[in-house]
Amino acid sequence: MPFTRTLLISAASFCVGHNITRKIFQAAIADKVDLYNLPFATTALSSIQTIYDKLDDSAIPAALINATIVDLHSHIVPPWYHAIVPLSGQVPTPNWTLAEHLSFMANNSIGHSVLSISTPGSVVFPGDEAKSAALARLLNEYMAAIVYKLPKYFSFFAVTPLPYTHKQPFGTGLLSNHEGYYLGNHTFTPLFSHLNISANNKVFIHPTDPCIHDPQNSSQLLSANPSPYPSGLIEYYFETARTLADLTVTQTILNFTNLQWIVPHGGGAFPAVEDRFITSQPPAVQAGSRAAYASRCFWDVAGPVFPHQVLGLLGYGVPTKRLVYGSDFPYAPSFTYAAEIAAVRNSSLLSAEEKIGLFAGNSVI
Ligand SMILES: *[C@@H]1O[C@H](CO)[C@@H](O)[C@H](O)[C@H]1NC(C)=O
Ligand SMILES: *[C@@H]1O[C@H](CO)[C@@H](O)[C@H](O)[C@H]1NC(C)=O
Ligand SMILES: *[C@@H]1O[C@H](CO)[C@@H](O)[C@H](O)[C@H]1NC(C)=O
Ligand SMILES: *[C@@H]1O[C@H](CO)[C@@H](O)[C@H](O)[C@H]1NC(C)=O
Ligand SMILES: *[C@@H]1O[C@H](CO)[C@@H](O)[C@H](O)[C@H]1NC(C)=O
Ligand SMILES: *[C@@H]1O[C@H](CO)[C@@H](O)[C@H](O)[C@H]1NC(C)=O
Ligand SMILES: *[C@@H]1O[C@H](CO)[C@@H](O)[C@H](O)[C@H]1NC(C)=O
Ligand SMILES: *[C@@H]1O[C@H](CO)[C@@H](O)[C@H](O)[C@H]1NC(C)=O
Ligand SMILES: *[C@@H]1O[C@H](CO)[C@@H](O)[C@H](O)[C@H]1NC(C)=O
Repeated sequence: MPFTRTLLISAASFCVGHNITRKIFQAAIADKVDLYNLPFATTALSSIQTIYDKLDDSAIPAALINATIVDLHSHIVPPWYHAIVPLSGQVPTPNWTLAEHLSFMANNSIGHSVLSISTPGSVVFPGDEAKSAALARLLNEYMAAIVYKLPKYFSFFAVTPLPYTHKQPFGTGLLSNHEGYYLGNHTFTPLFSHLNISANNKVFIHPTDPCIHDPQNSSQLLSANPSPYPSGLIEYYFETARTLADLTVTQTILNFTNLQWIVPHGGGAFPAVEDRFITSQPPAVQAGSRAAYASRCFWDVAGPVFPHQVLGLLGYGVPTKRLVYGSDFPYAPSFTYAAEIAAVRNSSLLSAEEKIGLFAGNSVI
């Protein structure tokens, strides 16, 4: 089963100048999460302590001061996470530092980044709840530390959700499937019920590698990418379409009217399959779901989504005010970032005002 239990960010994280390491550890224990289930916990905690001790506004490049673009799709890769995830989507995981992230923002006029964890996120140890919970906790503490020190420039989507009583994350990041369960599966219903009534009602979806449960042994996961191409190249677009279709058919999008979904990569392959699968649904589900795509989903343009792919999405009547900027930094090839921004700026599909809205995060932020 996917792990959906409470992964609180510790209140203690915010007592700067103290031994953060000990407080984060103790708060995790109070929530029945033992960080030392992970052999690199000491290294990770020390990297978090360093953020609290050292990070301040002096890290901000001058060119960033007046930047206005809001980036809803960008990732951090702490070194201890990189060490356990050498590959993402079957290609080498990019190196990342906060300084490079800030430099990237400054170079592209991005004034605020909502941080998240790309695939595989906390699903590095399938079947091991203790390690998965500890990893999610450390990743959340790391992002919370950055946001605490530089709140003007960063917020974050938490890895695996539930009540964040202190440092409020901007929303919750979920993968297209967690250990083979797509997001419409009833195993996620308690989670969505919780988020639906919380202030933290934003759900950011991120694609991951497709996998299935071995028919001979259901606790064994098998890769479901049958092609020789890295999954980041093709499968991720299908994954986004699959999980959106699953959320639709199970009526998750329809029932949880208070959730706001941030859908990556302009919906991936979803616009290409939307009519084909949705016409098998009862008329009320069709109409309600299509209305939800236009009113409760934001579609990020990490891609390249402009100038071509976006036509499919807009063809279904998704309003341009539902498009938001996403970079996918540092996971996209470096030459694509400025090109995608230029393609949006150059697009004849949007008015000048609509472009400003897209780059400002529209009404989601
Ligand atoms: C913080 O607490 C941890 C655990 O008690 C301890 O190992 C570490 O040495 C302490 N660090 C500092 C800087 O006091
Ligand atoms: C930022 O904008 C303010 C007000 O327009 C201006 O005075 C300042 O020089 C700008 N700073 C940078 C680094 O561009
Ligand atoms: C990350 O950095 C290491 C050490 O410098 C280097 O060997 C590796 O190729 C880099 N990985 C990527 C994906 O750039
Ligand atoms: C930002 O631009 C500077 C100057 O062109 C360049 O040296 C730096 O590598 C760029 N940063 C990133 C993250 O691409
Ligand atoms: C949930 O996922 C399991 C395993 O893939 C599957 O057998 C089951 O049919 C799914 N249930 C729903 C309601 O999606
Ligand atoms: C099923 O797979 C799990 C996870 O890989 C493994 O621990 C277990 O031994 C397997 N069971 C059988 C009967 O092969
Ligand atoms: C949504 O509500 C319908 C009944 O209106 C129900 O059949 C379905 O199971 C619900 N789906 C979820 C995910 O709660
Ligand atoms: C989600 O919240 C809305 C607003 O409070 C409510 O109308 C709706 O019934 C809730 N959905 C579910 C499935 O609980
Ligand atoms: C801008 O868009 C026009 C078509 O509207 C196209 O011909 C031109 O190549 C585009 N330029 C850039 C730099 O993307």
